[in-house]
Amino acid sequence: MNRFYALLFALCILCPLAKSQSVNLTPWPAQMSTSPGTFILPHNLSIQTSGLDADEQTEVRRFADELSHTTGIRIKYSRSKRATLKVNADPTLKDAEGYRLTITKKGIVVAASSATGLFYAFQSIYKMLPPNVCAGVRDTSQTYELPLSDITDRPRFAYRGFMLDVSRHFFDTAEIKKMLRLMAHYKMNHFHWHLTDDQGWRVEIKKYPKLTSIGAVRSNSWNTDLVKGSYWTGKPYGPYFYTQDDIRDVVAYADSLHITVVPEVEMPGHLAAAMAAYPEYSCAPDGEHRVWVDGGISTDVLNVANPAAVQFTKDILTELAPLFPGTLFHVGGDETPTTAWEHNTACQAIYASENLQAYSQLQSRFTREIAAHLHLLGKRIAVWNEAITARGADIALIKASEAMVFCWNPCQKGALKAAEAGLKTIITNWGTDGCYYINRRANSKDFGAGRGIDDIKKMYDYQPVPATVPESLQRYYYGVQGTFWCEHVSENEHLEHLALPRLMGIAEAGWTPQERRSFTHFIERMKTDTAFLRLAGYRYHPQFIDYEGAEP
Ligand code: ACM
Repeated sequence: MNRFYALLFALCILCPLAKSQSVNLTPWPAQMSTSPGTFILPHNLSIQTSGLDADEQTEVRRFADELSHTTGIRIKYSRSKRATLKVNADPTLKDAEGYRLTITKKGIVVAASSATGLFYAFQSIYKMLPPNVCAGVRDTSQTYELPLSDITDRPRFAYRGFMLDVSRHFFDTAEIKKMLRLMAHYKMNHFHWHLTDDQGWRVEIKKYPKLTSIGAVRSNSWNTDLVKGSYWTGKPYGPYFYTQDDIRDVVAYADSLHITVVPEVEMPGHLAAAMAAYPEYSCAPDGEHRVWVDGGISTDVLNVANPAAVQFTKDILTELAPLFPGTLFHVGGDETPTTAWEHNTACQAIYASENLQAYSQLQSRFTREIAAHLHLLGKRIAVWNEAITARGADIALIKASEAMVFCWNPCQKGALKAAEAGLKTIITNWGTDGCYYINRRANSKDFGAGRGIDDIKKMYDYQPVPATVPESLQRYYYGVQGTFWCEHVSENEHLEHLALPRLMGIAEAGWTPQERRSFTHFIERMKTDTAFLRLAGYRYHPQFIDYEGAEP
């Protein structure tokens, strides 16, 4: 062997990333080997299935229909063992989201133990084909080929999420579905829908119609145009909200993409829009209340010492819970000022009679009661980390609530505290060390929040589970989430510009084993994916794709 061939041989054998470089697949799979060559999909493709249940059969049919629509390939179902695509149930694959995908010169074999596993195998097939397939755009003129490969794949974390704040600005169901489609392509499985906040109540509640007739309108709005920048509109914003039929429609669509919707209704703070509609449940029923216009945190919180006010929040949850088939229900709990409670006689009375040490304990007590109510509704409570990290928070009550703790600030301290209490935790860190708050500016030319130094490499390289976390606690680190706040983001294109491709980086953090992640390789794949993003009509941030490092 001369030196050139020896080097080539060493490169192919020793460097799995280099060897698989022609494979375009994000998130990068847990295990994959490739051989030279491709399998060309025939114009008449036969599918044989074995051992599948009804849901799995539905998944195969959906895949076949989509593939046929985008490529013009004709599909026929067959009993023959010589079919081009064989889809098998394999109960030995323990992770329901996992799958095996083998592509040889003879054809394709897919195996999974659930419809979700099959769905992810099919997403991998779509992703490795030309970009029009993922984009859903028909093109019958191309050759559709797949790299010869053997993939055994499953996610690192059970929860791979995206949160969108629709209170500060509203996004219609078409844009929500567009983001859901993107999430599914990158194997994300939870959409955290931040439905209410100080600046607007965005979901219909039939028992309390003023929540939307009053709470879904504010008197002015800070909007941003991606070209002209930010400006006050000087006009009322709203009423913008989702009807319960809209919610059902989005939830069903998400379900077809194997995405669980996690609703969030903030309580007992970030509730100014609701207090403007129903001031009788605030700490100052005769005072002035308004849907908040600026950013920041309103002190207009629920009067947690008023049983009627607590019942008001329970009624809202009772009405909403059946619309969401998933078990998690997020009730916020971040940034809750206690000043209104400190000046309210009913709150002062509980503080004294129960010998509380801090007014924040009123929040712990309220959260425990709401968790019990959600439990009766078949739900499990989720909260922001302040529920356990705020000064005076009663961890024992939150532990008794079996809350899922979403950690943002202080993220890792909060996560460790949650894990030590035996509570599951989601990592969505805010801060300069690798921000998962993907609404923040990447450079000084961007509009919106942040200092323009939110660097994609730092974010990508962020370790959701630091090496210092004891092994016994690692199982509580349940997942990762990209979080998107909309105080400064009012337009679809601005949302996509800031979120993409950071969201894909978080998808990869959620799916790919730590040792298989590589920033350079990720950026290469994102460069390839710009063809898909353009075809499907998504904006993305060019600085992140043509990465040259953070601004000084
Ligand atoms: C948050 O960013 N206030 C959860």
